[in-house]
Amino acid sequence: MTITQLETPALLADLSGMEENAAILKELAGGTRMRLFPHYKSHKCPQIAKKQMEFGAGGITCAKLGEADDLVREGIPTVVIANQVVQSEKLPLLASLARRAHLTVCVDDRENILALERAMTEGGVLHVLVEYEVGMRRCGVERFEEALDLARLIQAQPHLSFHGIQAYAGHLSHEEDGEVRRRELLSIETEMARLKGYLEERGISCPNFCGGSTGYAAEKPSDTVYTQLQAGSYLFMDSSYRKLGLPFRQALYVLTSVLSVKPDRVVVDCGVKSLAMDQHAPYFPAFPEAELRFSEEHTTIFTDNSDLFPGDMLLCVPGHCCTTVNTFDRIHVIRGEDVLHVWPITSRGKAQ
Ligand SMILES: Cc1ncc(COP(=O)(O)O)c(C=O)c1O
Repeated sequence: MTITQLETPALLADLSGMEENAAILKELAGGTRMRLFPHYKSHKCPQIAKKQMEFGAGGITCAKLGEADDLVREGIPTVVIANQVVQSEKLPLLASLARRAHLTVCVDDRENILALERAMTEGGVLHVLVEYEVGMRRCGVERFEEALDLARLIQAQPHLSFHGIQAYAGHLSHEEDGEVRRRELLSIETEMARLKGYLEERGISCPNFCGGSTGYAAEKPSDTVYTQLQAGSYLFMDSSYRKLGLPFRQALYVLTSVLSVKPDRVVVDCGVKSLAMDQHAPYFPAFPEAELRFSEEHTTIFTDNSDLFPGDMLLCVPGHCCTTVNTFDRIHVIRGEDVLHVWPITSRGKAQ
């Protein structure tokens, strides 16, 4: 099958681009102590997760228990939930996954740690990261003393194992000023190295620091305290990361069809129900400068310079790859015009 036979809108992933991006990330992390733990949120597709493992990942990072469930079910042996799991209804599944795989979860609260231990009644070990807040103002403890207190509490539980620190600086991933990005990331590195020393001086060995995004990896952090790199978007890229001029190639597209052509505009068959708008606007490489207007199922490209006809196809670069993928049921893996695989986006919508 070729892409011209696909019903649109259709999600396309260019295999050559993904392979190149994976090789670039591996090179960037090479020579550091970082192991790749790519974030599942970017593709939510077990087939891609398996390819990432074959390519040398130490495990797969995800955000949600439902995603971890899919990954363990698909045989991924090492899974990190870079997030808290707090709701009591969810803990039996978490405990059962911890008995079937090497599972790690984040905490920033004493009661949550005690609840995790109570959930592990049937035995096994759940690995636990203390999340440290490094400027994103999301979850995480904010003082070294709190991290020490939680690490000690984890170590005191028979079924929990202290895995280290989760410290994700997502607020800097898309910082356009390279100097600001580098300076701020370096200051977080310094702070986390101090935290490691602080914990170790008090008898807590801290084997892992987990975090890092595509924007972080592109800085080629050589002398880093991080051991697990959680970059996700590097595989696909999007218009949001494009403006940073990173070394990765665009590998994800939404294939659209022209519905209507007018003297001042072209209208295509995808809108915000298949193009996420949460970070940056998508763009059409054929009309890079054109003003765009989005509605639910249409995008209007304002141009008086098109030789298109209804039924012609156009490629669109998503504004944010991760949230755009989550709007589709399947991903078409292509090389050139050929569709090589159609893989289900198994964990789309797995928000629990
Ligand atoms: C905890 C965590 N780690 C890593 C990432 C990956 O970031 P990116 O897709 O920018 O590489 C994210 C993105 O949201 C995240 O929340």
